[in-house]
Amino acid sequence: MLLEIPNVLTAEQVAQCRRAMEQAEWVDGRVTAGPQSALAKDNQQLPEDHPVARQMGDLILEALQGDALFMAAALPLRVFPPLFNRYGPGQSFGTHVDNAVRQSKGIGHRIRTDLSATLFFTHPEEYDGGELVIEDTYGAHSVKLPAGHMVLYPSTSLHHVTPVTRGARVCSFFWIQSMVRDDGERWLLFDLDMAVQRLNQESRDSEVAVRLTGVYHNLLRRWAEI
Ligand code: NI
Repeated sequence: MLLEIPNVLTAEQVAQCRRAMEQAEWVDGRVTAGPQSALAKDNQQLPEDHPVARQMGDLILEALQGDALFMAAALPLRVFPPLFNRYGPGQSFGTHVDNAVRQSKGIGHRIRTDLSATLFFTHPEEYDGGELVIEDTYGAHSVKLPAGHMVLYPSTSLHHVTPVTRGARVCSFFWIQSMVRDDGERWLLFDLDMAVQRLNQESRDSEVAVRLTGVYHNLLRRWAEI
């Protein structure tokens, strides 16, 4: 399942990051690609250990900590330090699947990539093309979100970025190791969580809500790996 998370960053935070990115030197995006996806990948990236990348990455990680929708959907155990890419005219990233395990220069440990995230820094009207197309069992989904918004999708999905034909597309991308590895179990918990929250808002029958909250936690206890 695919989920859009609106307003991860404010317009002011997006503007601040974009100013910082304009000053930074970008490198060929193939530096973080495996040999197979290097053939498909044509974009630019900020070097992983670039101070601007680290500073903006920390801003994103802090914003995610306070984002209730992200926390409920991802049930994060570890989040990979965010990376940043830019696609100019003619650039694209062909169909690929993200590496299952990644190690960052910044963190000592490896993470298993359960969820992939793309956070948009450019507005849809600033560029043509550059859609993120994600394939799942229900078909292909094309995603192009307002700046500051993010999409979360299972890292098991084949995906690609269509060629940019005008302007530039700037995004952050990163991965999440979830406490709940299985996508189906994780989405079931998310669904239950959302339903219980609505019940709490709409009903005074707290006994039912308490029982369902108990079911949520007992399922999480059963499925969580920490
Ligand atoms: Ni990818």
